[in-house]
Amino acid sequence: MKYGFIGAGNMAGAIIKGMTRSTESRFDGKDISITSRTVVSAEELAKACGANACRTGVEVVAASDVLVLAVKPQMLAEVVPALAGAIEEKAERPLVVSIAAGKTLEYLEGLLPANTPIVRVMPNINAKIGASTSGLCANALVSEEQKQIVREMFSTIGTVAEIEEKQFGIFSVIGGASVAFAYMYMDALARAALKAGMPKKQALQITAETVLGSARMVLESGEAPWPLVDQVCSPGGTTIEGVTALQAAGFESALTKAFDAVLEKDVRLGK
Ligand SMILES: NC(=O)c1ccc[n+]([C@@H]2O[C@H](COP(=O)([O-])OP(=O)(O)OC[C@H]3O[C@@H](n4cnc5c(N)ncnc54)[C@H](OP(=O)(O)O)[C@@H]3O)[C@@H](O)[C@H]2O)c1
Repeated sequence: MKYGFIGAGNMAGAIIKGMTRSTESRFDGKDISITSRTVVSAEELAKACGANACRTGVEVVAASDVLVLAVKPQMLAEVVPALAGAIEEKAERPLVVSIAAGKTLEYLEGLLPANTPIVRVMPNINAKIGASTSGLCANALVSEEQKQIVREMFSTIGTVAEIEEKQFGIFSVIGGASVAFAYMYMDALARAALKAGMPKKQALQITAETVLGSARMVLESGEAPWPLVDQVCSPGGTTIEGVTALQAAGFESALTKAFDAVLEKDVRLGK
């Protein structure tokens, strides 16, 4: 199986590095072709991963069974039509994988030749350390075997969940944008600790480890978060003071507003 990437930026880099990181991986850099606007970034990435850099997207299409569109969403309307001829010329349609935020299968079908199997994947930037939470949905032309190939590609950068497309916007908030919310939460706590006298670096380390532990607790204990909050709050204790202060400051409503804002933008981007 041959893999092609249009775009060699942050996300393509994370995915290709994930696919080729382990010597035991089923993916081999030799089977991966990459192009980019400047080609320089594609060459650098190809060199780092033992892959092949191509001067044009058409060359990548010709060399690929699976074609990953890894350009910015607003670039798709310019980049994809230029590849359509090369896709049509192939004896068998390549499987197209789009990672563009907000761009629906219907939108992608409108840009690609008829009968193209398309998978939409939403990874997140934690892919850089193999800790993405990626969402996946596919059009009706994608076989189970093809979905499995995409699952295996994205499993090299973290976990993969199949999501109905109508819930993809929701996934994009909780599996995508919320990465930034979590970074903000940790930074705000570490800055508060700094204000109280602890070096920020140390405070951030402790905060991040605590978030990691809390995430594992939710995943591994099977308990919902509120009973866990109750377990941490002793009667008349210190933690309940912080919990009620957070509620009074609108913690939950701030998160709900952030959720709604991202979802609304995601819907607008898809049009
Ligand atoms: N970054 C994230 O956290 C994240 C998360 C989920 C999904 N995504 C999605 O991933 C996609 C890529 O995002 P990114 O953050 O990786 O962007 P990026 O770092 O800006 O990379 C974009 C890449 O597209 C290339 N490009 C631009 N125009 C091109 C053209 N005409 N032909 C070929 N290549 C072209 C650029 O080439 P040059 O290198 O030569 O400029 C660059 O390599 C986006 O659709 C985004 O929605 C990103």
